[in-house]
Amino acid sequence: MAGGEYDVIVIGGGPGGYVCAIRAAQSGLKTACVEGRETLGGTCLNVGCIPSKALLHASHLFHEASHNFARMGLTGDPPGIDLEQMMRYKDDTVAQNTAGIAFLFRKNGIDHIKGWARLTGNGTVAIGDDVYKARNIVIATGSEPASLPGVKVDETTVVTSTGALVLPRVPDRMVVIGGGVIGLELGSVYARLGTQVTVVEFLDEIAPGLDSDVCKAFRRALTRQGLAFILGAEVQRVRKLKAGARLTYAKRGTEDRKTLDAEIILVATGRKPLTRGLGFTEAGGTLNDQGQIVTDEHWRTSIDGVYAIGDVVAGPMLAHKAEDEGMAVADIMAGRPGHVNTGVIPSVIYTAPEIAQVGQTEAQLKADGRSFTIGKFPFMGNARAKSMFMGEGFVKLLVDADSDRILGCQIIGPSAGELIQEICVAMEFGASAEDLALTCHAHPTCSEAIREAALACGPGAIHA
Ligand code: NAI
Repeated sequence: MAGGEYDVIVIGGGPGGYVCAIRAAQSGLKTACVEGRETLGGTCLNVGCIPSKALLHASHLFHEASHNFARMGLTGDPPGIDLEQMMRYKDDTVAQNTAGIAFLFRKNGIDHIKGWARLTGNGTVAIGDDVYKARNIVIATGSEPASLPGVKVDETTVVTSTGALVLPRVPDRMVVIGGGVIGLELGSVYARLGTQVTVVEFLDEIAPGLDSDVCKAFRRALTRQGLAFILGAEVQRVRKLKAGARLTYAKRGTEDRKTLDAEIILVATGRKPLTRGLGFTEAGGTLNDQGQIVTDEHWRTSIDGVYAIGDVVAGPMLAHKAEDEGMAVADIMAGRPGHVNTGVIPSVIYTAPEIAQVGQTEAQLKADGRSFTIGKFPFMGNARAKSMFMGEGFVKLLVDADSDRILGCQIIGPSAGELIQEICVAMEFGASAEDLALTCHAHPTCSEAIREAALACGPGAIHA
């Protein structure tokens, strides 16, 4: 039996947990991080954000080569697809980054304990037969795919994002259940590689929570890329066939059943907090009715000395939100103030066009009865975007009608995920649209569209 004593034990080595561990160690706290997976990085790095971004990048270039190279005078046959090599490239990307975190752990003197942790009371954590003690314990166990009644996942034919990232061949036909972030990103990957993709979504529009103008433009763009959408449809069951599977759905509120056959069915209907096997409630912890760990505003759970961060607590299930909470909790444990501005957490969908938003949407501001101004600028008026055939989409900036302070921004277009950061910084500094409009933006860059949207809130955009 092994064991040890620490200032901090972090349970979970994903973006929340590993960042928390590094920050705690940087503050001089003796820190260990327990991770059950072979490698650090959690869902995001091992089977989520990073591998999917590698496939999105490769499939985007394939799509560009097939559709736009000839327009630019780049001749020769369009490339073929060696899926095995593409998957190796994706795995290499993941391996480089997991090794990077292991290096950072060594550099910061953090013990990486391999295994699944269980809370055993009085500041102790058991991993198998080994018991460790800590003044502070941070739960950063993340989330897992939510199950769907009538649908049994086997990760071969009926897959979650995990299975979709390791398909042995490009399927002829894929049905995606759920038109949210995962469904649209992975649906895009396979659609670009030649799969006929149909997305079945329960609600009347894809990407719930997005600005409605963005949603419409987004669905139009994806439809042009060959994705098909069945909206307002409730999936009732999935049955495996000799080859592939059959999905049965009915238009919401009707009994009119229809079926769809596909080689692969991707279930992307959300994720749920992961506390299974953790012994959290047995140790006196409280979960809410959504299974999230209940904490106060400083991420303290109802168990003394135990904190929780990331997907396992309330708020958006986003890696960067978890990272921010990890840093804040580490600071609190080190005796400093720790804070996360929940009003300025960007979210991005890494499709082409890319979608990004931060702050409030028009619908939210209307619901709150706020008085606001909208500045909108289309990428059609941006020379750089047009030169890359990315003139579709726009920047939509929402500012307070009296103070001109930025309240939110939605972008659909090239590098939206990078562009939104300008707005995040501006919002953190309490900037106004005029501040943005008076800031020199390099020409020619896509970021000029942000300045133009800011100008559109006041005297008017130049190129519209
Ligand atoms: P999601 O919550 O984004 O979307 C799920 C979709 O499934 C919703 O549109 C919902 O209406 C629909 N749905 C639910 N039940 C259904 C049914 N029975 N039939 C048809 N449609 C149904 O969840 P998703 O895409 O699984 O992602 C999980 C989490 O991971 C999210 O919180 C997301 O933010 C996060 N994530 C973030 C990424 C990013 O930031 N780029 C990438 C991937 C995941």
